[in-house]
Amino acid sequence: MTYVLGIDIGGSGIKGAPVDLVTGDFAAERVRIPTPAASTPSNVADVVAEIVAGFADQIGDSPIGITIPSVVTHGVTRSAANIDKSWIDAPAEKIFAERLGRPVVLVNDADAAGMAEVRFGAAKDHPGLVLVTTLGTGIGSALIYRGVLVPNTELGHIEIDGLDAETQAAASVRERLSLSFDQYVPRLQRYYEVLESLFWPDLLVVGGGISKNSHKFLPQLRLKTPIVPAQLRNKAGIIGAAALAVAEAEHPDPLA
Ligand code: BGC
Repeated sequence: MTYVLGIDIGGSGIKGAPVDLVTGDFAAERVRIPTPAASTPSNVADVVAEIVAGFADQIGDSPIGITIPSVVTHGVTRSAANIDKSWIDAPAEKIFAERLGRPVVLVNDADAAGMAEVRFGAAKDHPGLVLVTTLGTGIGSALIYRGVLVPNTELGHIEIDGLDAETQAAASVRERLSLSFDQYVPRLQRYYEVLESLFWPDLLVVGGGISKNSHKFLPQLRLKTPIVPAQLRNKAGIIGAAALAVAEAEHPDPLA
């Protein structure tokens, strides 16, 4: 059986696991290597190559899916959240593909997590418009309509009341300001009511580490749209990256 390797590049760790895309779960235990202090494309590619080598027996010649906290258009990283600024405008997909000697599909971290939730998690097989947000250091978003991703929505940076939304409502803001969940809820309420009024999704999914505490804040939100916690937790990025790698291999990006 051949599995598809998903790799999740984050500000503190680079994680990878082979994914079984039939069950939507890891086919082997996840490996984690700390992100190099100088998290440049070249240094990160070295770590990714190490992870790929470790799973070589299980992944045949399948493409590798990689997530990164960056806008990614046609293989080029256009921004850099919590990683070295040299990713901005780097031909990152090409850098990885050359280093690994195999096809690579590079996607935004929230887009990957969102696709995983739609394929296998909280929004499995949803027939309408799903808006997934990840509340973490920043806020990531994935907009998926009838199973098709509209990439790079960056709704964490929507301007609300004159401020960048993630600077007010990310989970890291709650921690930094030592807010109780009751104190944090009004920030989420404002954020989600604006998203709702602009996008009118059929379902909102809340991911990120904080989703394990969703019972402490989701029931307090007053929205028109059903809002549910993500299910795949910290596996979502890896699983979504693997799923997107296969989708892209089947339908290559004509603009890449
Ligand atoms: C970045 C997004 C990313 C999100 C979650 C935001 O600050 O702009 O690209 O998806 O953080 O990591």
